[in-house]
Amino acid sequence: MDILGVDIGGTGIKAALVDTQQGELTTERERILTPQPSTPEAVIAVIQELVKHFNYHGPVGVGYPGVILNGATMTAANLDQGWLNFPGAQAIGEATGCPVSLINDADAAGLAEMRFGAGRDKMGVVLILTLGTGIGSALFVDGRLVPNTELGHLHLPGQKKDAEFRASERARIEKNLTWPEWAANLDEYLHYVERLFSPSLFILGGGGAKKAHKFLPLLTVRAPVIPAALGNEAGIVGAAMAAES
Ligand code: BGC
Repeated sequence: MDILGVDIGGTGIKAALVDTQQGELTTERERILTPQPSTPEAVIAVIQELVKHFNYHGPVGVGYPGVILNGATMTAANLDQGWLNFPGAQAIGEATGCPVSLINDADAAGLAEMRFGAGRDKMGVVLILTLGTGIGSALFVDGRLVPNTELGHLHLPGQKKDAEFRASERARIEKNLTWPEWAANLDEYLHYVERLFSPSLFILGGGGAKKAHKFLPLLTVRAPVIPAALGNEAGIVGAAMAAES
């Protein structure tokens, strides 16, 4: 059975039906701009609209850009602060009439990449980073996810702000950085993360990884760095995978 996957982002909320056995979307992707302010009420109204659009009844998997514990949203770096400590899975479930599984958005993208994409059959410590509005991270050890790692919020030595303010796709665009300038920020960040986790592989996804050829050759970390294979769809596919029973 196809499962509805939803990916809540800082700028857009995307959804599609997913064949979770094949890791493929079976419908067009529907995208609605993230309401501003992005309160739980406003975002949940959009998810309701998406469920209606697909005329869907069944389990829904939702990727959310923050820490998820027991179905509650605990942080909200790029969304309204109303999501702090909010019973997200329950509230979305009540609004849509569907059972809801909530998962961190990068963890969702990571699940999809590890099963169907660039991380397939990769053992050891694999770190997937999504470069978008923020930086998301999904850490896998021999194929098993360590959830909620939130490595975009690391502070590099001597820096006052979270790493995602310098090395995300948004940072590149908003600060008008050239590819080499942005690659230098990203490289500095990857070196720091490499010192902490010594991964055997980095996989870069999210909007920022679309033009991988512009910056991958400029990175100097020890571990190989490869682009994600599923592109923007990974978040939706992985969210649906999280709702598989
Ligand atoms: C959030 C993470 C999320 C990432 C990408 C960060 O600001 O804290 O939970 O995975 O952005 O959306």
